[in-house]
Amino acid sequence: MKTNSTLNKHHCRIGGMGYYLPEKILTNQDMEKIVDTSDEWIKQRTGIESRHIANANELPSDMALKASLKALEQSQLKPEDLDFILVATLYPDRIMPNTACELQKKLNISNIPALDISAACSGFIYALSIANQYIQTGIYKNILVVGTETLHHVTDYTDRTTCVLFGDGAGAFVVSRNTNPEQGCIYHQTLNAYGEFGEALYISAPGARHSSKKERTTEKKDTCIQMDGQKVFKKAVQILCDTYTKTLEDTGYTSTDIDWLVPHQANERILKKFCKIANFPEEKVIFDIKETGNTSSASIPLSMGRAVEQGKIKRSQNILMIAMGGGMTSGSLLLKY
Ligand code: COA
Repeated sequence: MKTNSTLNKHHCRIGGMGYYLPEKILTNQDMEKIVDTSDEWIKQRTGIESRHIANANELPSDMALKASLKALEQSQLKPEDLDFILVATLYPDRIMPNTACELQKKLNISNIPALDISAACSGFIYALSIANQYIQTGIYKNILVVGTETLHHVTDYTDRTTCVLFGDGAGAFVVSRNTNPEQGCIYHQTLNAYGEFGEALYISAPGARHSSKKERTTEKKDTCIQMDGQKVFKKAVQILCDTYTKTLEDTGYTSTDIDWLVPHQANERILKKFCKIANFPEEKVIFDIKETGNTSSASIPLSMGRAVEQGKIKRSQNILMIAMGGGMTSGSLLLKY
């Protein structure tokens, strides 16, 4: 089971992981008091029971810092050892400077590149795949990759079709160069986008398109997530199936070679549908939406970190991560943890 990437000189290994969930919890019972919904409807349609919500002065970079410090500690590295910071987020601290620079400042380090990645719920996979390239080419040794979201700022709590879905959180990986792929490497990656599905999931403001409107008014809905739920649902299932098939075709792996699927946690039903169509065993899927909701770019590092903490995912196992999100974007990484 050798793929081209195992022939490389440098390999990208996850050295440490960390995650952060804000203290405040919004349960389905709380949602029942906000909109016309029910615990039963939310659980049955999404698998979600509660979500964490950041407090007013908790910024994406603050949550990223907490997750990053844990990831650094686990990898036994100091902030000064980092060569590059990548932050995936769909709602940054500010438009400028980017959140990666804000995080750099909070880590008390300077003089290394810091970049935000905007690919919605696929953002973390995009960021990790970029980190993989810089490590494989030997340019950088240690890279901090973070997904961090305060989605409550872009959630319309008068719209029951979206507000029950989203939560806040952050997850971070420190990835490092190593020479032995058996000790951890990324075997295979895919990135993709389907711009024609842009209108299925979007936020209008702030943005030049919204600002350039002749009669510019900003209503709550302009600054919040707008979604065609059914369209996104169908496309998400298709993306999971196509990405999984491509990974198997490119690598020669079969489902038995994959120990865990760590997917973007958008909706439990999407994942179950994928399992049925692709004939992938549900027991090998990390389902982690119940207590967090959809945390967009934070969801994969969050659920991976929690699954390792719970003793499900162990070193040397083969992990397939797949994400899909607004854009629509998608991406996957097959790696040895
Ligand atoms: N509580 C109660 N009823 C609700 C509701 C809620 N929170 N949200 C919608 N409904 C109602 C609708 O108004 C509709 O009522 P009607 O039949 O009287 O018109 C009914 O439930 C069915 O709506 P529908 O949109 O068909 O539900 P659905 O089965 O498609 O589930 C989603 C809705 C949003 C859960 C589902 O489409 C979904 O998960 N889509 C993907 C979302 C996603 O993953 N986004 C992020 C991608 S990264």
